[in-house]
Amino acid sequence: MTDEEYKELIVQAESLIDRSLDDVSNMANLSALLMQHMKLHWVGFYRVSGKYLHLGPFQGPVACTKIELGKGVCGTAWLEKRTIIVDNVHEFPGHIACSALSNSEIVVPCFRDNEIFAVLDLDSIDLNYFNQTDKKNLEQIVKFL
Ligand code: SME
Repeated sequence: MTDEEYKELIVQAESLIDRSLDDVSNMANLSALLMQHMKLHWVGFYRVSGKYLHLGPFQGPVACTKIELGKGVCGTAWLEKRTIIVDNVHEFPGHIACSALSNSEIVVPCFRDNEIFAVLDLDSIDLNYFNQTDKKNLEQIVKFL
């Protein structure tokens, strides 16, 4: 998506988030919003629970429920505290294939008080689907949580 397309999405995301609600409500609506606007196979959140990420609100096919720190793209983004873009998941060492249809992926950490409390994971059927524009704008969107 272009910056222009993200502009509209960001306005909607900000107005949708209600901080008086718990994370599940906001993550559920944010997942739905992203699914509506982007060409995604899967989008959702994994929430930090001890040394694991637990599956949170998502849109798309069923997914793995528990990911260890440092494992897969999600666990690596959490460990390294940074957004990871994977152009071809089949070339990412340790990639966790929840669906055989996913070919590219972006994982964005969600910070609160300088700690990661969740990661946002987006999967596409297309190779090379995600880029620096997605990174910048998705990092902005998760700040609303
Ligand atoms: N592929 C992810 C696992 C989550 S699913 O894509 C929904 C990973 O390697 O961490």
